[in-house]
Amino acid sequence: MDLFRHCFTIVTFGLLIALSASVWAEESVDFRPHFDQVEQYRVTSDGGVVAADEPLASQIGADVLDAGGNAADAGVAAMLTLSVTNPASSGLGGGGFCLYRDAATEQTTALDFRETAPGAAHRDLYAVDGEVDHSLARHGGLAVATPGEPAGLWSLHGRFGELQWSEVIEPARKLAAQGHPISAPLANHLRNMEDTLDDWPELRQVFSDEEGQLLEEGDILVREDLARALAILAEEGVRPFYAGEIADAIVDAVQRHDGILSTEDLSSYALIPREPVVGEFEGYEIHAMPPPSSGGIALIQALNILTHLDAEADRHDPAYLHLVVEALKHAFADRAHWLGDADFIEIPTDKLLSDEYAEKLASRIDPDSVLDTYAYGTTPPDHEMAGTAHVSIIDGHDNMLACTTTINTRFGSLVFVPEYGLILNNEMADFNVEPGEPNIFGLIGNEQNAVEAKKRPLSSMSPTLVLENGRPALSIGASGGPMIISGVFFAILDILIHDVDPLDAITSHRIHHQWIPETLFVEADHLPFADELVARGHSVEARRIFSAVQLVFRNDDDWIGVTDPRKGGIPAAPDPDPDRQ
Ligand code: GLY
Repeated sequence: MDLFRHCFTIVTFGLLIALSASVWAEESVDFRPHFDQVEQYRVTSDGGVVAADEPLASQIGADVLDAGGNAADAGVAAMLTLSVTNPASSGLGGGGFCLYRDAATEQTTALDFRETAPGAAHRDLYAVDGEVDHSLARHGGLAVATPGEPAGLWSLHGRFGELQWSEVIEPARKLAAQGHPISAPLANHLRNMEDTLDDWPELRQVFSDEEGQLLEEGDILVREDLARALAILAEEGVRPFYAGEIADAIVDAVQRHDGILSTEDLSSYALIPREPVVGEFEGYEIHAMPPPSSGGIALIQALNILTHLDAEADRHDPAYLHLVVEALKHAFADRAHWLGDADFIEIPTDKLLSDEYAEKLASRIDPDSVLDTYAYGTTPPDHEMAGTAHVSIIDGHDNMLACTTTINTRFGSLVFVPEYGLILNNEMADFNVEPGEPNIFGLIGNEQNAVEAKKRPLSSMSPTLVLENGRPALSIGASGGPMIISGVFFAILDILIHDVDPLDAITSHRIHHQWIPETLFVEADHLPFADELVARGHSVEARRIFSAVQLVFRNDDDWIGVTDPRKGGIPAAPDPDPDRQ
């Protein structure tokens, strides 16, 4: 029986390889969306830019800059707007990370408002009759981790904001109360989730008309429920969310859906300020998010490895692409081996980011071939782009903000708090609920990222600020699960090293590798270099879904905001300052 199964696996695997090879060879498909009117995704300004996943969020952020707010004020307003206009991706029921660079003090602060496992969570939380049921970590009450977004926005504003808290909340509240047209991406999520939403009537109703039909693009979505929550936050701060009427409603909703989140989990939730991880690359200083994000370490590690390789070639040269992909695979292997919540486990950050270690990994890279799977990194050990949103801002005073927030996959756990319009996250699925087996993003992880009470799941969110000689160069980040890291990585290389125009960098075909699966995903199957990568041993597969990268680039004279057409956000800038002309 075992032998049969083994043979079957080999045959199936062989068939899959043959199939992907033939798909690769015969079809010619470009999986990028059709980039209509591409110039709308770039704005050039003389006084700051907001680049968010969704146009109204950018515009409201820019209005806040116009009203005298700084990047922190604009960021809070933009992120709250995303919770209204882009509710499938992020919101008060989720969490995230922010990096803020204060121009006056020249200090970068990392804010960790990641969701946290409930106190009653344990390693075998998802075991049913001895088998792990991954679906429980995905949808329903057990998928919900303690939300951190309200605490994060409150702290970002409290530390750095200049306008009144209620002032930065008001635009999102008003939008929720008055309604806004449903965007194409939201309509698309609703269409794709229609069958699933049938089992979640409270959530479905939010996005349905009076006849019970799901709303479509352009229909007006009014969110009085969410407006009520935002009004309470504007008036009373975030306390009612963590201990009070909103907290009680959240716990009630989760427990009605068999979850374990308690009022104690909410009342004990705390934002954690952290030291950013810092690296240097080709004269640039990279400030990035430390664990429980894996993004900062993986990004800097991959860049460090490149400094030991001859990676100055043309960005479309297959020899160059092979080297950068191999560097990325080392970084993802170590992500799987070493990374998790640093408050629970030891993470050898200094070693992972050291030049000696980068040199060692670089020396293993073979320019002509991929390595054996376990030669990447150090210790042997269904994708969807929907959840997660990013906002990048550099204001007119060169304060920098990069925030990535999430409720995880599309509409999170699907658990809805009807009184306050909150969609609760399914961040528990970012743990490796079965250590050694891939999680929801196909990411391998071991005990380092196993479920544990009050632990924060490992994330790929990578808000990143780049400085050149102490001056702002780039605020960048992305949504897209593990493809966040590769999306940010390649954008940094393209823009800062290859001098590619930022919009061209964002609209170029993307590639992604995360060590396991042993597949190099590319966003089209007719790239000229593909055959040569296959010849080096890469298993190349065309794929439609990639990250959505948002950025603000600062050159000498201008701030250039670019949003990713893959998600449809449009950057915005405050009105030109007449004194600057
Ligand atoms: N929820 C996606 C991430 O944090 O990586």
